Amino acid sequence: MPNNINIQRRKILKIAGISAAALTTFPSLLNAKTMQVANQASPDFNPDVEINLTAEVRYVPIFNGPQTRVWKVIGEVLKGPANTITNEKSYLAPTIRLHKGQKVRIYLKNELSSSTILHWHGLHVPSKMDGNPMYAIDNGETYVYEFEILNRAGTYWYHAHTHGLTAKHVYSGLAGFFLISDNEEQSLKLPNGEFDLPLVIQDRNFDQQNQLQYGGGMMMKMHGFLGDQILVNGTPNFELPVATRAYRMRLLNGSNSRIYKLAWDDGSPIKVIATDGGLLEQAETLPYLTLAPAERREIWVDFSHKKVGTELTLRSLEFSSGGMGGMGMMGGRRGGMMGGMSGGSQTGQDFAVLKVRVSKKVSSHDVLPKQLSKITPLRLSDAENPNSPRRITLSMHHMSALLNGRSYKMNDIREDEIIPVNTLQLMEFDNGFHRGMGGMAGMGMPHPMHLHGEQFQVLKREVRNKSGDGYTSVAKGFLDKGWKDTVLVMPGEKVTILKPFNDFTGLFMYHCHNLEHEDMGMMRDLLVK
Ligand code: C2O
Ligand code: CU
Ligand code: CU
Repeated sequence: MPNNINIQRRKILKIAGISAAALTTFPSLLNAKTMQVANQASPDFNPDVEINLTAEVRYVPIFNGPQTRVWKVIGEVLKGPANTITNEKSYLAPTIRLHKGQKVRIYLKNELSSSTILHWHGLHVPSKMDGNPMYAIDNGETYVYEFEILNRAGTYWYHAHTHGLTAKHVYSGLAGFFLISDNEEQSLKLPNGEFDLPLVIQDRNFDQQNQLQYGGGMMMKMHGFLGDQILVNGTPNFELPVATRAYRMRLLNGSNSRIYKLAWDDGSPIKVIATDGGLLEQAETLPYLTLAPAERREIWVDFSHKKVGTELTLRSLEFSSGGMGGMGMMGGRRGGMMGGMSGGSQTGQDFAVLKVRVSKKVSSHDVLPKQLSKITPLRLSDAENPNSPRRITLSMHHMSALLNGRSYKMNDIREDEIIPVNTLQLMEFDNGFHRGMGGMAGMGMPHPMHLHGEQFQVLKREVRNKSGDGYTSVAKGFLDKGWKDTVLVMPGEKVTILKPFNDFTGLFMYHCHNLEHEDMGMMRDLLVK
């Protein structure tokens, strides 16, 4: 019965590998904070890699002057290669690097004042290891994750997924890269080491004392949070000195709600080699990238023909995101609604994201491989429901953001949210395509829709009104090829996907990755069984 699964948070003291006898001898073990283990380590799991991740309060230098109080994850390798973890100087959580096939055990220790849990975004892991909000642990508790890396090589990430608090937690720092390699990818000899650059783009607001500001009223939540300070890898005014050679840049939109339209200021097109779920078959050339929250694109950038001293800026160009998103109907009023919190920054404005400076001449002969990978297309005829897609209607009504008219609730699985395991499902996200703009007139908003579990493939996009203001200003930046875990659905649009649900039963979430929308309830569980 769906309602019986994992109902209660485990408050029970479970102690891995410590016998009752040991407890009688050392009763103080019972009081040790770190001994409270939610979900214990299993003796028959033999990890290749073991890491500790501790979430705690830290002060990090972001600007001159006072350091900024953030929520930071500190990593430590207990077993396995030392480069599994790179602790970042910024507020970012450590970058985790693993190889396909490795088995990893992760101890998440919560030293924060709030309960929290981490989710591995894009990873195909068992339900219990997926960081569902029901597994959130309190201060002093530890959650033990154990899983095998089944994903292909790619730029994945991880972040807090706490009930009603995901936006606040990610904003405070609880997010980092999770990079997976595999043999196929490594045989390509893509730029590596310092030439392989994970770059996460985020927006924040800071007060005069350099402290993070988050907040605003219901209108902020309806739009999603927009900060006026852009940070790359936790650094404002990010500048990158590069050599005259090729780079692999892994772009992640780690912002709560901001969508970017990324382009080089000299007009050069962008060569994309990978998306959310890893390498494409072949590089794709786009004039700009539309990058919604949680999406990733890896790009191949070759500076070998540039002169030393050349400067290039990656900008986010102006676009319109439809009714509520900013430049559209409500654009002009936005600043007023947000009060002083947003610094007047809107979605769809033009601003600089990062600057590249060609600063060193080297000779190298990097050639972008013609064939990057082989991707087997999922077939409609293999779907369990080829003629009756599971429709997920996206809507915003008054003060709520809904999926099929429902708000998030723990243990609230409905008939249409049950999926037979080991099936391929045809699904569609309908953002006002059938009913008119996303519910209330003028309330159409872009929604980056994300599903936990295995990566999916996009079958088609249909738009109600192609010349509608939002769509055309971002459409050339969509990249729907390859494997995806998050897809942007613009107002008036319907996106149809094929999504596999293999191997694991249990709860897997689907939600809008505008984190304010997610926390407002635009999130549900699917029960795979
Ligand atoms: Cu990146 Cu359920 O999220
Ligand atoms: Cu996810
Ligand atoms: Cu949304």
